[in-house]
Amino acid sequence: MHHPPVTIHDKQFSIYLPERKILHNVEIVAARLSHDYRGKKPIFLAVLNGSFMFAADLMKEMSTPCEISFIRLKSYTDMQSTGQVKEIMGLSEDIKDRHVVILEDIVDTGHTMAGLLPQLKKESPASVEIATLLIKPECLQHNLAVKYPAMSIGNDFVVGYGLDYNGLGRNLRDIYKVM
Ligand code: IMP
Ligand code: MG
Repeated sequence: MHHPPVTIHDKQFSIYLPERKILHNVEIVAARLSHDYRGKKPIFLAVLNGSFMFAADLMKEMSTPCEISFIRLKSYTDMQSTGQVKEIMGLSEDIKDRHVVILEDIVDTGHTMAGLLPQLKKESPASVEIATLLIKPECLQHNLAVKYPAMSIGNDFVVGYGLDYNGLGRNLRDIYKVM
């Protein structure tokens, strides 16, 4: 399939991870989670907005009973991480004694996850792990255990499959990187 470059705002992006590769790697993570959480009825906390496609495709591949809820926090504007983690919005579920799996679109510096984890742990969950569509290991600035990464990438800014550049690009089926 041909994937011409796309322009979003002032930047050009070229194809990086085609949809079939994304879905293949999401299936692998779902299989691992289905195995590891069998009988534990985990609750996925999907971090909006970026994780919505990942969360949907992952859920469809889960073969053990599980729940999902959506939370919101914002730490990123433009193409640079600000490192500020605001409070969790939308955590309506009681996660006390539950096995929690955070679903994130991308772990970059790790500021967001490093800020979120202690806030979640205050609610006394039985366990908390992180599943992320993408991780940029070179950019990680925290000692963060990300147990379920679907794909590792270099230090590139990417869009598509839920990820945006200043609000746009989330609708792309494939992931593109800035040229
Ligand atoms: P961190 O706090 O630096 O790990 O950044 C995490 C958040 O920054 C993610 O949840 C994304 O929303 C955003 N982000 C980081 N890298 C990218 C990227 O390459 N494209 C789009 N969003 C990104
Ligand atoms: Mg995000």
